[in-house]
Amino acid sequence: MRRLFSPFDLSIKGKLILICTITTASALFLTSVVFISTEFISLRRSLVNNLFSFAGTVASNVKGAVAFNDEKSAEETLSTLDSVPTISRAAVYDRNGLMFASYRRESTISVPDTLPLAHGAFRFGVNHVEVSQPIILDKEIIGNVTVTSDLSFFYSRMAVYIAILFGVMGLSLLASYLMLAKLQLIVTKPILNLAGLMEKISRKRDYSIRAKIYGRDEIGSLAHGFNEMLTKIQARDEELELYRKHLEELVKKRTSQLSEANNQLKQELTERLRAEKALVESEHRYRTIFETTGNPSLIADDSGTISLVNTAFEKWSGYSRKEVEGKSWMNFCFGEDRPKMKHYHDLRNSDPEAAPGNYEVRLLDREGNVHNTYLSVAVIPASKRTVCSILDLTELKRLEEQLRQSQKMEAIGRLAGGVAHDFNNILTAIIGYASLIQMKMARTDPLRSYVNSVLASAERAAHLTTGLLAFSRKQVIAPKPLDLNSVIKNVQQLLGRIIGEDIELRTDCPPHSITVFADQGQIEQVLINLATNARDAMPEGGVLSITIEIVVLPETTSQTRADQKPGNYALITVSDTGIGMSKKTVESIFEPFFTTKEVGKGTGLGLSIVYGIIKQHNGYVDVCSEPGSGTIFRIYLPLVDARDQGNLKAAASRGRTVGGNQTILVAEDDVAARALIKEVLETYGYSVIEAVDGEDAVNRFEEHRDNIDLVVIDVIMPKKNGRAVYEHITKTRPRIRTLFISGYTADIINEKGISDKNLNFLSKPVAPDVLVAKVREVLDLPGT
Ligand SMILES: Nc1ncnc2c1ncn2[C@@H]1O[C@H](COP(=O)(O)OP(=O)(O)OP(=O)(O)O)[C@@H](O)[C@H]1O
Ligand SMILES: [Mg+2]
Repeated sequence: MRRLFSPFDLSIKGKLILICTITTASALFLTSVVFISTEFISLRRSLVNNLFSFAGTVASNVKGAVAFNDEKSAEETLSTLDSVPTISRAAVYDRNGLMFASYRRESTISVPDTLPLAHGAFRFGVNHVEVSQPIILDKEIIGNVTVTSDLSFFYSRMAVYIAILFGVMGLSLLASYLMLAKLQLIVTKPILNLAGLMEKISRKRDYSIRAKIYGRDEIGSLAHGFNEMLTKIQARDEELELYRKHLEELVKKRTSQLSEANNQLKQELTERLRAEKALVESEHRYRTIFETTGNPSLIADDSGTISLVNTAFEKWSGYSRKEVEGKSWMNFCFGEDRPKMKHYHDLRNSDPEAAPGNYEVRLLDREGNVHNTYLSVAVIPASKRTVCSILDLTELKRLEEQLRQSQKMEAIGRLAGGVAHDFNNILTAIIGYASLIQMKMARTDPLRSYVNSVLASAERAAHLTTGLLAFSRKQVIAPKPLDLNSVIKNVQQLLGRIIGEDIELRTDCPPHSITVFADQGQIEQVLINLATNARDAMPEGGVLSITIEIVVLPETTSQTRADQKPGNYALITVSDTGIGMSKKTVESIFEPFFTTKEVGKGTGLGLSIVYGIIKQHNGYVDVCSEPGSGTIFRIYLPLVDARDQGNLKAAASRGRTVGGNQTILVAEDDVAARALIKEVLETYGYSVIEAVDGEDAVNRFEEHRDNIDLVVIDVIMPKKNGRAVYEHITKTRPRIRTLFISGYTADIINEKGISDKNLNFLSKPVAPDVLVAKVREVLDLPGT
């Protein structure tokens, strides 16, 4: 709440005036009060005295009247009071106190009638005063006179006094105010001056200004003291200014130093932040690389203790991080390889340059499986730790081994195929001519048994070359949609006979048909060869099981073969409870002429033929065997898509009539073979035109183009190969019947560019009856 008034708020001038005014006024007031009181008392006393003397006068004047009881006279005496204006009433009382005579002035204040006063007493009323004087006669009080005076005169006089007093007081105050207004300057001016100066100094901060000294009073002392203080302040100020300037300079210097240091610090901080960020990024990057690299990796300290492994390592090894971290990684090394690993580890600690960064070692996983691995080990710079990345070569080695095996088989196959081809030409001549001799010989001819022996030996040799060709997949096959169930049924009896009574044959075929595109004779051959081997492996008897089922081969996995194509396959499993095979034997069983059997008991071609046939049918054959635990052969043949089956059923056999009278152009560069073919064909009634090479074949064809019913062409001929001859001939007669003969297979013919699906082909050595049958078959083909 706002204070209404406080004398402390007043200026010095105001305070001085106020003090002086109050002092003066109080003094005047007190003086007036004393004066008026004195005046009042003296006036009253004089008034009472006057009245007493007046009443005495009246008492003396009415003494006679009272003594004589003359009221009238008394009244008359009293009426003389009219001339005294201050008397408003008078009364005379007898000795009994009874009113004897009275007087009352008209138009005066009403004075109440009161009890008579005692002699010599007076009494003040509000506006009157009355006194009483005894009427003495002869020293005896005979009555009493009471005179009452109006006080208005007294009051008006007092009022005049008061008015005068207040007038004088007002004037005095005014005079004192005016005087003070002037005189206060004596006091206030130096103070105000000092205050103004202080305000100016504080505003301007100029301590050189000095206060004016008006006198030697307290203010003068104050001003003097103030000036002294200013002098000191000025000196201090100057000193301070100097000090401030020095400080400022110092601060400036320090500030610049600080700002320089600050900038440096900032730069360092930025650099550090950048480095830290780079470090975090790098750490993150390398951790990501470490984590996401497909290879199992680990970090180990110089003692070989694993400090970190990645997820790929966990997945690969089967160990969790917790199980591995903190353990020596020597624990995961295959026993035999530990010394090597330790040696490299020690070398890395003593001479990192000399230690190999990459080496192969066998590691163990949680299951105890041995993995062939290729380690890449590097020391992490500025640390004693090494990072090691593991490349598992187990699968690669397995595939490599498979590849090596299949390449070996391929090479052997080529060799065997080449040998068989040349032998076939020779055997074609031997068998052909021996057959002709046999045909033309009399039944009783003593030399007939020799010819028979030649033929039998040649047949055996031909059988061998057929086996070799089968292995090298160079024999002609006649594949068609084939239900494996019916094949098993067909061959079951024969197999039973082969294995004998001591061995039980168990077959397990599904109720539905399992169709593959295959040559029935070839598949039967496979089963026969496998059964023969099983029999030989079970001299004491046992069980031979053959099962057929459908399987789906997935994409290549660690369990599958390198060359395996995914898809649906018919799986023929042939297992026996025989003696089994060692690992070494298993590695070679498909090689031609590999046999563990005594001389004369086995040629070592049985499984080679199986291998060749299955390969030629785009299938796979696997073996699983251990000594004493029997053997399992698994044969995978691609299943025929149901949609293709109808198209493939066209390969129906046709009735054959042997012999004919058509004209046949025989293009064969091998003289013996050509002569044999000519001989055989002519024997069966055909007319033969001979051509010695490709060019000759073309010329001969041109000469007899309209008479030729069939062209028998050797695929490989000098000057012009079979394909070129075929192309030339078919230009003139596109639908002319042709029969190719070669020591090679249809594969080779295709390689040479003849890819007719209905290609007619005969492989060497060609037996005369087979030749004439095939010639007849081709001539009988419809649509030409
Ligand atoms: N079921 C089997 N059990 C044990 N060993 C076998 C079995 N099948 C094949 N072998 C081994 O594989 C070798 C090669 O067999 P393959 O059938 O190729 O030749 P062979 O049987 O010795 O002679 P051939 O079959 O030409 O008469 C055999 O000598 C034998 O050691
Ligand atoms: Mg065999």
